[in-house]
Amino acid sequence: MSITILGIESSCDDTSAAVVRDGVLLSNVMAGQEVHRRYGGVVPELASRAHQQHIVPVVDMALREAGVEVPDLDAVAFTRGPGLLGSLLVGSSFAKALALARDIPIIGVNHLMGHVHALFLKGPEHGPSLPFLCLLVSGGHTQLMRVTNPLAMETLGKTIDDAAGEAFDKCAKMMGLPYPGGPVIDRLAQEGDPHRFSFAMPRVEDLDFSFSGLKTSFLYFLRDELKKDPDFIGKNRHDLAASLQRTIVEILMQKLTRAVEQTGITEVGIAGGVSANSALKEAVRRTGKQKGWKVYIPEPRFTTDNAAMITMTAYFKYLRKQFDDQQITPRARMML
Ligand code: KG4
Ligand code: ZN
Repeated sequence: MSITILGIESSCDDTSAAVVRDGVLLSNVMAGQEVHRRYGGVVPELASRAHQQHIVPVVDMALREAGVEVPDLDAVAFTRGPGLLGSLLVGSSFAKALALARDIPIIGVNHLMGHVHALFLKGPEHGPSLPFLCLLVSGGHTQLMRVTNPLAMETLGKTIDDAAGEAFDKCAKMMGLPYPGGPVIDRLAQEGDPHRFSFAMPRVEDLDFSFSGLKTSFLYFLRDELKKDPDFIGKNRHDLAASLQRTIVEILMQKLTRAVEQTGITEVGIAGGVSANSALKEAVRRTGKQKGWKVYIPEPRFTTDNAAMITMTAYFKYLRKQFDDQQITPRARMML
């Protein structure tokens, strides 16, 4: 018997819906939100309103692209959290109503677990073998996970302050670049010298991360240079971007390498928005080759927030009959 699941992701500023059948992705539709651009960050109140406008057409298109009709669905999944509460409410309410109307199960999904399952979007047999390590790097989270079965994830280390994506976004903002800064830094860095400038490297214990020292070091550096030359950023943006990017990637790689050494696990994945970063991908591939790791990197469209990964998690939960009831509520904060 085949299992067909519709999944909805609405944790932040993108409304997305996807259909997965038997662990294979049939469609993944996304509607972005332009309204936040001029504010330099996501405005929660505007985000939830935009989700309300997008959700019906996005779901409709996801079903149509998959060639699936509502009566074909075996379950409806949604992102339960972490995320913006008003945004999560739109996805969860829609999922609950549809499941109630069709009398099918609902599945609430942890967004962070979803990011890790982006590694399985070529089909459940094509992801990393268990156990594997996953470096989850997004705008809100930076953590190292040991995954022993698809739904059992243990956090080996996490950031004690900012997330890696936040470090990209905040430093980009200091340079006057648009939000989100990560992809812009990545693009500028292509033509920059990554060793031109150096910034503070954190000294945190074990497998934890810290990015706030780098942020401060970057800020003070810019302030001092701007005093000498008001056009310092304009003249050096490529080298600044490349040097910043190198530092962030070094911080991440240090801990990832240590995690492999400590656990002896050589199946290694990266996931989350920052896993789209070209320098990080290259560093993971290069180190993997040197040290004999098997490396897994999601396709770019599955690195940032998307419903495909959420629906994949729901598929793993469906197989284990992990369903939720209509009383389930979204959570702004949620751990793995
Ligand atoms: O996973 P995601 O879409 O949202 C969260 O769940 O947080 O991640 C968004 C983050 C943003 O901080 C964005 O700047 C960063 O991912 N990002 C990148 C790149 N593409 C997205 N950072 C560095 N390089 C990129 N190419
Ligand atoms: Zn995310």
